[in-house]
Amino acid sequence: MAHKNIMGSEVEKGYKCKPVVKDPNRPIMHYKTQLFICDGGRCHKVAKDQFADKLREIVKGLDLQSGENRIKITRTMCFGACRFKQVGQFVENSQRNGFEINSNIWFKNAHKISDEKWRKIFMAISKNQDIKVFVEQIEMEEA
Ligand code: FES
Repeated sequence: MAHKNIMGSEVEKGYKCKPVVKDPNRPIMHYKTQLFICDGGRCHKVAKDQFADKLREIVKGLDLQSGENRIKITRTMCFGACRFKQVGQFVENSQRNGFEINSNIWFKNAHKISDEKWRKIFMAISKNQDIKVFVEQIEMEEA
């Protein structure tokens, strides 16, 4: 029996969610939360190369790369907030899941956040717990 992804599409052998039939009208793959990480020139200079890939590995380690609580990591260009480099923003897929609690949360110095703190943040996101307290703690530690 063919494996199907969360969108109900048959999945290519060896993949978890890659559909066999690529429908250009299909909506973007489900995600619960999207994390935009700035990879513009100034942020890229302070962060290590492949920072977004490191975060993706952490998300994978928590098994949050697919499924209902999928966290999607997306690199973006300059947010226009370079003095806070490296900048990031969480956005909830609220049109789909109705959750607003962690939408539009900005944070700075993303590259200084330890892997352990990222794990805590991602787990809190997946449980729909308010992460503002984590972000405030991080900013106080960095001040
Ligand atoms: S380069 Fe990241 S905010 Fe400008």
